[in-house]
Amino acid sequence: MSQQRTSSPVLLGIPTVRHERDLATDLPAATRGLPDRFGRGATDLRVSLTDRCNLRCTYCMPAEGLNWLPTQAVLTDEEVVRLVTIGVRDLGVRTVRFTGGEPLLRKGLEHIVAGTAALTTWDGERPDIALTTNGLGLDHRIDGLVAAGLGRLNVSLDSIDPARFAASTRRDRLPDVLTSLRAVDRAGIGPVKINAVPQPATYRQDAPELLRFSLERGYQLRFIEFMPIGPPETWNRAEVITAQDLRVALTDAGFTLTPRHGPRGSAPAKVEDVSHPDLPSGTVGLIGSVSEPFCDTCTRTRLTADGAIRSCLFSTTETSLRDAMRTGADDETLRRIWQGAMWAKPKAHGFTTDDSFATPSRTMSAIGG
Ligand code: 5AD
Ligand code: SF4
Repeated sequence: MSQQRTSSPVLLGIPTVRHERDLATDLPAATRGLPDRFGRGATDLRVSLTDRCNLRCTYCMPAEGLNWLPTQAVLTDEEVVRLVTIGVRDLGVRTVRFTGGEPLLRKGLEHIVAGTAALTTWDGERPDIALTTNGLGLDHRIDGLVAAGLGRLNVSLDSIDPARFAASTRRDRLPDVLTSLRAVDRAGIGPVKINAVPQPATYRQDAPELLRFSLERGYQLRFIEFMPIGPPETWNRAEVITAQDLRVALTDAGFTLTPRHGPRGSAPAKVEDVSHPDLPSGTVGLIGSVSEPFCDTCTRTRLTADGAIRSCLFSTTETSLRDAMRTGADDETLRRIWQGAMWAKPKAHGFTTDDSFATPSRTMSAIGG
């Protein structure tokens, strides 16, 4: 049945009155979908397919890697497809994003994408299927993934300078990512999004170079503020390059940014129109998880590589579907466990206002970005 992995709120100094497990039992009997106690509903499923990666981004992993999950702990392809099916068919999920670690390390990725593409959402549509990848080896996989039903692609790229890329990822692999992006251009999937985490020492060079590169190639660049979810001791609020820092750096480099007005809905990125005298016009996204949080409109539910539901990237608890599934639970039981986990979703992550917030016990690579 559901298993909780918990950091003690008392030790962490958080004034928690009730445990999430107790909150989950308040779930109304005839609940449809994945609502929580604060009026939000999750329709956007993120699935981490592995905690392993072939890069070692400094903000994500230590140089030696992490204590990887044992193979038998990780969901099989069939188990992933079963849980995604319950999410889409029974719980109202519309968007499924596969992530990691590095999801291309899963040989069965095409099979999982095809299994997802065969599903029908509550609106009678095929689910929107997306992939977040570092791009290594994507040139050999992109055609198969598009044929399987992949609809959208985010490639993580923090610098287009080979030395700074190697310093940031601890691997000298920029040429491989660029080769993959060329293959993606030919595959007719788009527009591709580029995700970059700006670093204090280099962002004034990297941000304009990445934006120039993206505008020339027709990619949608998005900067993601560094969040406290990497190796312990790597995060320091004072070092987070905020959306506003980026606006200044890009303006200084000759770009004109114009914020788009209107509601941003549940999309985390604030999109700004960009122009530059020498370049095609386009957009840049600024994801201010730290400085401009978007918890109140969050529509996410997350499945870890070892089959646990996390209602929030920053949850300190998680609820295993794998253990229930492997002891014979039927779809209806799995649905109720998933709903209970989401019902207990916290109101907000808290790290914007509170320095005593609890850092999750797992890093982004294990949870799924
Ligand atoms: N803060 C912000 N973004 C992060 N990513 C990984 N770790 C962090 C962090 N601590 C990003 C990666 C990738 C996406 C999955 O998450 O750069 O684009
Ligand atoms: Fe790998 Fe992504 Fe973590 Fe970099 S951020 S080490 S590419 S999982």
